[in-house]
Parts: sequence; structure tokens; C-alpha cells
Amino acid sequence: MNMELIRSTASFLRKNGFRNPEVCIVLGTGLGKLIDYLKVEHSIDYDQIPNFPVSTVEFHKGRLVLGYLEGRRVIAMQGRFHSYEGYTAAQVAFPIRVFKELGAQFLILSNAAGGINLGFNKGELMLIEDHINLLNQSPLTGPNIEEPGPRFPDMSCPYDVALNQYVIEVGVSLGVNIHKGVYAAVSGPQLETKAEYRFLKTIGADAVGMSTVPEVIVARQIGLKCCALSVITDICDPDDLQEIDISQILDAALLGEAQLIKVIPEFMRFLPR
Ligand code: HPA
Repeated sequence: MNMELIRSTASFLRKNGFRNPEVCIVLGTGLGKLIDYLKVEHSIDYDQIPNFPVSTVEFHKGRLVLGYLEGRRVIAMQGRFHSYEGYTAAQVAFPIRVFKELGAQFLILSNAAGGINLGFNKGELMLIEDHINLLNQSPLTGPNIEEPGPRFPDMSCPYDVALNQYVIEVGVSLGVNIHKGVYAAVSGPQLETKAEYRFLKTIGADAVGMSTVPEVIVARQIGLKCCALSVITDICDPDDLQEIDISQILDAALLGEAQLIKVIPEFMRFLPR
């Protein structure tokens, strides 16, 4: 990873119309439909973008879109990259560096996650207030690129307090119940055992998933204000664990997606100019 790669990808995207986004949005597993609410100006498949990894998960679209949502200029990833696809955390977070280079100031992430906190129901949203990185990897591993930010970025508050407050206010104003909690990122792709869910609960996680944390670490390093929402897709009760397959997770993601489609557009109006 170096600035040259970041700049050359940014320059390619600029030439293709992806100029001056204010906000980037990363749409997670089963959560791509928000794109339909964008006034789309430009769209490109990941495999056409130099230096981008190619999404291999079949239910991820793998498309970058530039458009307007509630009058705000947005660059949206429909589908993201995961460590379990074989990418390093640095590769997973590479697009975030490119978006900053294009001028973005805010990052909104979404993901599908298992509910460790048994107060959560399937299809509900959880605002990520903090995280635990269990990926055994950091996107900052490897030679440091001095230019974009510090080698040892502070992680006392990786999720922007003001943005989080807006999300909660939007939830209240729309009547959407939004929990708050700690997200644990695991490498996957297998789901967890009962013992692992018990462990995650013990260490303070409220939800578990296989993404988001690499992007957040990079956002923090490069000074992109971020907030993240999980859609709870399954209930991870180690004392009553039901067998589950990915199609059930995707069905539950659809329930949550309906909430996200309400919350994110309204949230745009709260974003400072
Ligand atoms: N574990 C890990 N990742 C997930 C889960 C889970 O239970 N549900 C959705 N993504």
C-alpha cells in the first residue's frame, strides 16, 4: 500500500466522474438496496477500478456508485471486501483511503451482525459505539505510509460522537428503535460455536460480524469522521443456539435493510455542510 496506488485509483475515478464526494457509505451483506434511493450519476463495477480488490462473495454486488442522497453528494460501495475472501485488512480498507483522497469527509458503514446481547431482536439496528478487533490483523500492518496519518492512531473514540448522536436523534424522530453497543470483528467465514459466543459476551461484545473494523481503523488514522450501524441478523444465545444458514441471515438482513433505508437518508440532513 502506498500513496501512489491511492492517488492513481483516485485519479482514475475522478476522470470517470467520481469527483468531490462528501460522504461515503459502505453497504454490507444484504444491505445494498439503499442504492435505489440515490440519484445516480456514475456507477462502475469494482473489477473495472485499478487497484481495487474484486468482491468474490456472490450476494455482494461489487459496484461503486456516485450520486445524490437528500442533496448530499455520496459515494457508495454496494458490497465490500472481507478478510475471509483472502484479502489483507489493508486491502479491505483501501477504498476508504481512496475516498478520502477524493475529498470525502464522512464515512457511514453498515453490516450484518449476530446479536450477542440477548436484548436485541432479529432485524433491529445497533449503532456501533465501540469495537473489539479479533481479526488478528490490522489494516495498518506493514510499512507505514507517513503521509495520510499517524503510525499509532488513537482509538479512544473511533466512532464520531456527534454523528452517533445524530443517528440516535434520527431513530427517535422516525420511531426506529436503534440499540447501541460494542461490535466484535472476527475473521469468519464460519459462524461461531456456542463457546465462542459465550466468550464474546464475556469480553463485552453486543454484536459480532466479519467486517467494518479495518475500514474504521483507517478512517480514524486519516481523519475521516465515521459512524456504523449493524443489522442484527441472528440471535447468538449459547444456551439455546439454533442451527442457521446464510439464507436465514440474508432474510433477516432484509428486515433491517428496511430500517436502514429510512434512517440513512434522514441522517443526511443532519450532516454538517
Ligand atoms: N457471526 C459472525 N458474523 C455474522 C453473524 C454471526 O453470528 N451474523 C451475521 N454475521
